Amino acid sequence: MIRKGRFHRYAESIQLVEQSCRPGTRVYDLGSATGNLAMALCCRMPADAFEMVALDSSRPMLNIFKKRLSSAGRFAGITSMCRDLRRVNMERAGVVVVNFTLQFIPPEDRDALIQRIYEALVPGGRLLFSETTRHPNQALSDL
Ligand SMILES: C[S@@+](CC[C@H](N)C(=O)[O-])C[C@H]1O[C@@H](n2cnc3c(N)ncnc32)[C@H](O)[C@@H]1O
Repeated sequence: MIRKGRFHRYAESIQLVEQSCRPGTRVYDLGSATGNLAMALCCRMPADAFEMVALDSSRPMLNIFKKRLSSAGRFAGITSMCRDLRRVNMERAGVVVVNFTLQFIPPEDRDALIQRIYEALVPGGRLLFSETTRHPNQALSDL
């Protein structure tokens, strides 16, 4: 079962993914973990509306992801792969999502990753990127 309320923090990402999904392109979720983005997309879009490749280097995370997909009865459109995202080939990317994952990539590897994402994106494609930050102004940090 997919419970919609749990995915409110993905609302903006989902909206942007929906706007950017075009036939023949893929959504890549780099560092998918247990598949929160995919599950949130499943709440909003039918199985044939998007093709997603979700990558994570943690097998245990992906095992949970697969169980979630299975209990949601979702078998089409989403492929999960256990890979180091620095070494994966991407193509036909309409949207690449990197949510809370770049922090785990060594700084010296980040520019090359962003360049590869850029090269994989189709014209008009989007990179959606989220990261936690701490601002010296506490009020801004609390945002
Ligand atoms: C904070 S979690 C990501 C959360 C997820 N994007 C979400 O929105 O729920 C970071 C993930 O990055 C994965 N990760 C870290 N380094 C990686 C790498 N080099 N290749 C693939 N996945 C990696 C970790 O296994 C972890 O699941």
